[in-house]
This record gives sequence, C-alpha cells and structure tokens, in this order.
Amino acid sequence: MAQPNFFIKLLIFCTLFISSTSFDFHYNGFNESNLDLIGSTIIQPSGALKLTNRSHNVIGHAFYPTPISMFNNSPNASSFSTYFIFQIVPSSSNDGGYGLAFTLSPSPGFPNAADGHYLGIVNQSNNNLTSNHIFLVEFDTVDGHNEESDTDGNHIGININGVDSLSSTPASYHINDTLRTEEVRLGGGLPVQAWIDYDGLNKVVNVTVSPLSVPKPIRRLLFAPIDLSQILVENMYVGFSAATGIDKSSSHYILGWSFRLNGIANPLDLSQLPTVPDENLSSSNDKLKKALISTFSVLLFILLVALLCIIYYRRVVMRFEVLEEWEMDYPHRFRYKDLYKATKGFKESEKIGAGGFGAVYKGVLPANGVEVAVKKIISKQGMREFAAEIESLGRLRHKHLVNLQGWCKYKNDLLLVYDYVSNGSLDSLLYKCKNGNIFLHWEQRFNIIKGIASGLLYLHEEWEKVVIHRDVKSSNILIDRDMNAKLGDFGLARLCDHGNIAHTTNVVGTIGYIAPELVRTGKASTGTDVFAYGILLLEVACGRGPVVYEKDRNVILVDWVVECLKMGNILDAVDEKLNSSYVVEEMELVLGLGLICSHPKAEARPSMKQVMKYLNGDELLPVFDELSLAGSRRVDELTARFLALGLEDSFVTTTSYKSVSVGAISSSSFDSGR
Ligand SMILES: *[C@@H]1O[C@H](CO)[C@@H](O)[C@H](O)[C@H]1NC(C)=O
Ligand SMILES: *[C@@H]1O[C@H](CO)[C@@H](O)[C@H](O)[C@H]1NC(C)=O
Ligand SMILES: *[C@@H]1O[C@H](CO)[C@@H](O)[C@H](O)[C@H]1NC(C)=O
Ligand SMILES: *[C@@H]1O[C@H](CO)[C@@H](O)[C@H](O)[C@H]1NC(C)=O
Ligand SMILES: *[C@@H]1O[C@H](CO)[C@@H](O)[C@H](O)[C@H]1NC(C)=O
Ligand SMILES: *[C@@H]1O[C@H](CO)[C@@H](O)[C@H](O)[C@H]1NC(C)=O
Ligand SMILES: *[C@@H]1O[C@H](CO)[C@@H](O)[C@H](O)[C@H]1NC(C)=O
Ligand SMILES: *[C@@H]1O[C@H](CO)[C@@H](O)[C@H](O)[C@H]1NC(C)=O
Repeated sequence: MAQPNFFIKLLIFCTLFISSTSFDFHYNGFNESNLDLIGSTIIQPSGALKLTNRSHNVIGHAFYPTPISMFNNSPNASSFSTYFIFQIVPSSSNDGGYGLAFTLSPSPGFPNAADGHYLGIVNQSNNNLTSNHIFLVEFDTVDGHNEESDTDGNHIGININGVDSLSSTPASYHINDTLRTEEVRLGGGLPVQAWIDYDGLNKVVNVTVSPLSVPKPIRRLLFAPIDLSQILVENMYVGFSAATGIDKSSSHYILGWSFRLNGIANPLDLSQLPTVPDENLSSSNDKLKKALISTFSVLLFILLVALLCIIYYRRVVMRFEVLEEWEMDYPHRFRYKDLYKATKGFKESEKIGAGGFGAVYKGVLPANGVEVAVKKIISKQGMREFAAEIESLGRLRHKHLVNLQGWCKYKNDLLLVYDYVSNGSLDSLLYKCKNGNIFLHWEQRFNIIKGIASGLLYLHEEWEKVVIHRDVKSSNILIDRDMNAKLGDFGLARLCDHGNIAHTTNVVGTIGYIAPELVRTGKASTGTDVFAYGILLLEVACGRGPVVYEKDRNVILVDWVVECLKMGNILDAVDEKLNSSYVVEEMELVLGLGLICSHPKAEARPSMKQVMKYLNGDELLPVFDELSLAGSRRVDELTARFLALGLEDSFVTTTSYKSVSVGAISSSSFDSGR
C-alpha cells in the first residue's frame, strides 16, 4: 500500500525537479576556460576578471560561454539568482567612470555599442529598442545617461533594453533591516558585493549591495516589478559589460561570481577571492616616471640656460649676429662670426688698406682656408635694399674683376668679401716703388691697361645689366701674382651713395677722375667711367697721379700731358722711370687714347668696346689715321690733330675742381693722398 504512495511521491518529486531545472556555476576567481572574453577584458594572473583598464574609451565584456535556457518550455521566464563581487578602481579619487552592468542578452556581445554612458551595451541609435531583448542592472559611477532619472553619480539601476533605468537608487544598504542606510561607494576602489534575484512567479527583481565586510543585507535596496517573460528569449547569455569614457575612466574588476537558475546562488568563499593589483603601485611608478621627467626637465632647463648664457656671451664678446629674415634669402651671405675669425677680429695687423669706403682686412676663411679681402664699410640705413644689389654684383664674374665672393651685414657695418689679390694696388706700384716693391715694366703696364679695359667692357656691355663702376682709379686696381690687373669696388660708389639718392648733386667719385658732366649733372654713366679710364691710361703712361701738388699748385695730369703735347712732344710726358724702354707706338696709343677717353665732351669719348678695338690694334685711333711717316712733321701733325679735338676745353673744368661738390667719400679719397 505504501509502495504506490512512494512511487507517486517520487513521480511528483521528479516532475517538480524537471519542471524547475536547476543550473548553476560559481567562481572564486577566474581562468581562461571559464568565460568568453571580449574587448579589453583580460583575466589577471591572480584570477581577477578585468573588464577595462584605466585607458579612455575602452569597452570590455565577459560571458558565460554557453547560453542558458530561460523558459524551459514554460510561458514564464525562470527565476534566477546571482551573486558577484566587483571592484572599481578609478584613475583618481574623484574621476572614476563609467561603471559596469550585469547583463542578460540574446547573443554573447554587443557589436557597435558605444562607450561611456552606454556602458558598451547599446549605442545612441539602438538604445531602448524592444528588439534588443536585454535585461541589465547597472552599477554606475557617473551621472546617468538620462540626467533626470539617474541623478546621483554613484547609483544602481534596473534597465530593460538600454541605459534608461526603470528603477534606480543611490548605492547603499539598509542597516539591520531598518530603513537607515549606509552609502556604498561603487567606485571607491574597494570590493563590493552585489545580489540580483528574479522571482519568476511574482515577477519581481530585487537588487542588493554591501561592502565586503557586511553580509547580505536582509532588506533589498532596489526592486522593480518586471515580467522578464516579455523581454527575454529562450536562450540567453549571462555576463558583464563595462566601459570607460572620454574624460573618465576606471579599472573594472569582477573578483567572483555565482549564478543559479531556479534557486539561490551559491555563496562565494571570500577568503579565496583574487586580489587586484595595487594600481597605486603603477601610479607610484608613474610618480617615479614623473619625478624622473621633472628631474630631466630641470636638467634640460639648466642646460638651456647655460646654452643661452653661452650664446649671449658669444654675442656680446664674439659679436654673433642675428639674421633678419630677409637676409636668409641671399646665398652670398657670410656669417659675421666667420669673417670675425678670418680677420682675427678685424685686427689692425690684418689691415691691408684703407680707402674712401672703409678699411680692408686680409683674412683666411675658417671653413676652407681660402684667402680673402674683407672690406668693412660703415654704411647708411636701407641695408635691405642694398642686399639685392650686392647680391647681383656678387654674380659678376670676370678675370679682370676682383670677384665679390659675398657679403655680411652686422649692425651698421657692411662687410664685403673679395678674392684676395696679392700684389697690392696699381697706384702703390706706380708711385711708391720703394726698394723691394715691384717695378712695372711697359709690357706689364700695357697688359694691365688691356685687362682693365676688358673688365670695364664686361661691366658696361657684356653682363646682363649695365654696371657703372663710378670709381675707376689706380687705387681700385689690384695686381695679382701673375701681374694681371683686377678692377675692384665696382658698383660700390652707388651703393654707398644710396641713402642720398635724392641729392643727385652729391657727386661720388675721386678728384681728378670725375668727368665734367658728372659735376654738372651728378649723373654717372658709362661715359663717366670711360673718362676715368682715360685718366688711368695717362697715369700708367706718365707714372704720376691725376692731380699732383707741385710748386705751390695742383697740376692736373690731363693738362700737363696737353702741355707736353703743345710743347712739341707728347712723349715728354712719359714716366721717366721707364727709362725709355717702351714700344713707342703703344705709348702713343695709350697717351692718345687717354686724352680721347678723358675728353671733356662725353660724346667725343669712345665706348669701352671701341677702346678694346684700339688697344688690340684691330682699329687705328682716328688721330693716327693716315699720318705722314716723316718723323718731325709727324709730331707736329699729331699735336695739331689732338689740339683740334678740343682737348683744351678741359682747362675750363679743371679750374673749377676746387668748387666741385664732392661727397664725403671722394673727399676722403683725396685726403688719403690721391
Ligand atoms: C579553470 O576553472 C575551472 C572551474 O573553476 C576548473 O575546473 C579548471 O581546472 C580550471 N582550469 C585551469 C587551467 O586552471
Ligand atoms: C587598455 O586596454 C586597451 C584595450 O585592450 C589597450 O589597447 C590599452 O593598451 C590598455 N592600456 C594599458 C595602459 O594597459
Ligand atoms: C506563469 O505565471 C502566472 C502568474 O504570473 C501563473 O499564473 C502561471 O501558473 C505560471 N505558469 C507556469 C507554467 O508556471
Ligand atoms: C548601433 O548598434 C546597432 C546594432 O549593433 C548597429 O546596427 C548600428 O549601426 C549602431 N549605430 C551606431 C550609430 O553605431
Ligand atoms: C523606452 O521604450 C518604451 C517602450 O518601448 C517607452 O515606453 C519608454 O518611454 C522608452 N523610454 C525612454 C527613456 O525613451
Ligand atoms: C546590527 O545588529 C547587530 C546584531 O543585532 C549589531 O551587533 C550591530 O551593531 C548592528 N549594526 C548597526 C549598524 O546598528
Ligand atoms: C525580494 O525582496 C522581497 C522583500 O525583501 C522578498 O520578500 C522576496 O522574497 C525577494 N525575492 C527574491 C527572489 O529574493
Ligand atoms: C590608492 O590611492 C587612493 C587615493 O589616491 C586611496 O584612496 C586608495 O585607498 C589606495 N588604494 C590602495 C589599494 O592602496
């Protein structure tokens, strides 16, 4: 009798057992085989599940690997109970974010979900969609997604399908089943226990939290009446999601987790819970790094200050220059420092000359050991405009020009760097032939004349622009090692006069070389250069300066040659030091050409091209044309022809030399003995 009773009991028991299928798991710490990890989630060696680190905009998920059958052929969703311990370690005490959530979802993962307030579960477009079938409980450390509902940063909410809470409350627990509550800091860096229980019959969700030291409070913190049957699907994945945001972040850990379908979740062994690494340690590492960095910065700063001191020192003592922006554009620009070194600091012993424009120093460039002559000019304002001009002069290249290698501006000084020419200037060789000085033979003199002519021709006609020298004179002609002549200082007169361009009456040039029309108009031309070249020819032939102070009066060279001409023999004017060893035809040519070039009327002067033709013997000077060959008659004839050219007009201009308005530069040239 009892047996069938027993079987019925057994049957009922079995039916009950089957109808409320139990399923459970619990982990005191985790290993790789326990969960599916997605996103930033890792399992730490200690066994702690780390959903996110403290980087910004990070999302991490972890799911129980297999889905859970939530309905078991019943129209009602099964009851479940879960208990877990989490720990949220913020970046800094007040800057944690954004929290974590326990989730039930139809698939393991939330693709395209957003971080921050969306907790890595939904995004703006699929938030609160009924098609989501998501149940979640959020443990939020930041003001909620919907500011009105989740006002407290430290709160818990029960949500369906998104981040809007059906019910939410500040995180706390009820003390000893009273209404008094104690706050629980979710993001306080300490472990927090959480219980979520769903009653499938009464269709209620209870949520409770407490610190690790407090056992499960008797009174629930938060509940929501929900029929999960309307929300969930048959197979649900259970897990966690956490996210950090753009401005706030925390490390989110799960230390232990227990879950049971149709029953109470197993307790966890708190003594076996994994511990989270002390992230203050890494932040103390950061502190160490910061300390190192600051030490390094201090060192760097000291170094910088030292460097600045050195630079300042060198600028004051070494006179380093500061480049203005426009100066960078010019390739011929030298650094002042280099020129300073090259000339041993513009030492007096390195001075090789001083003229109207300034002093000239010999120097050796430190970079390549090339010898240069550095001309130091005290210049006027408007340097910037000069730069282009000097730069263009720097591109002039000719065998018979002293090539301008480059320039440099330093404060009010303009420094011009030229090729170094070893044998000095022509005037010193012509007039100051002391012992040891080289004496110029006629052949050499004639060569020099031709060389200068070709240099001038290049300036006047052969270069891309017409360059007027403006200061052709013997002291501007340098003689190199092979006794070749090089014309220097081309274009410089204009450069130095630049500041006074408005006062065109301020003639620049050197007394004795200034053409009469230049005095009148103040306008330099190729013709005024030819005039000066003519004087130069006479100088070379006669071995005397353009103006010589003799017997209480100034003797003007041209006048003196014309005088000799009138006295009967132009050759009387020839330099006595030559001792009659010269080619007469050449001498006549040079004297004649000298007179014609220095003709008072500009239009009577030949061009440099014509001059070259005469000097090369390609054409005969018109005055020599069809001269009779008889000696004495020839001289008369020559004299007559010369005088017919109107050379005597020059007397008019020569008397006015004293009243010539000359610039400061030319007067100083005069003062220095020329
Ligand atoms: C991982 O955890 C499970 C259950 O906790 C255990 O059975 C398994 O041995 C663990 N595996 C490893 C590799 O520790
Ligand atoms: C944090 O996690 C993200 C995603 O896994 C990773 O790219 C980043 O390197 C981590 N940051 C640190 C500081 O470990
Ligand atoms: C489902 O729940 C309702 C009440 O919510 C209850 O009346 C019904 O019996 C339940 N069905 C099953 C199969 O448990
Ligand atoms: C939001 O998520 C859904 C579902 O994954 C996706 O289809 C959608 O493109 C996402 N929207 C945005 C703006 O990322
Ligand atoms: C979410 O959707 C439900 C219906 O699907 C609606 O009643 C509710 O107002 C929505 N909540 C928000 C915050 O939009
Ligand atoms: C709660 O009750 C227990 C025992 O009844 C007592 O020891 C404890 O002090 C109480 N806690 C508080 C906060 O009142
Ligand atoms: C939910 O909490 C209420 C009140 O504390 C309690 O009566 C009920 O049994 C709880 N339900 C579950 C499933 O824990
Ligand atoms: C880490 O530092 C914070 C304050 O910066 C402190 O509140 C916290 O207790 C520290 N955590 C540990 C594990 O030392």
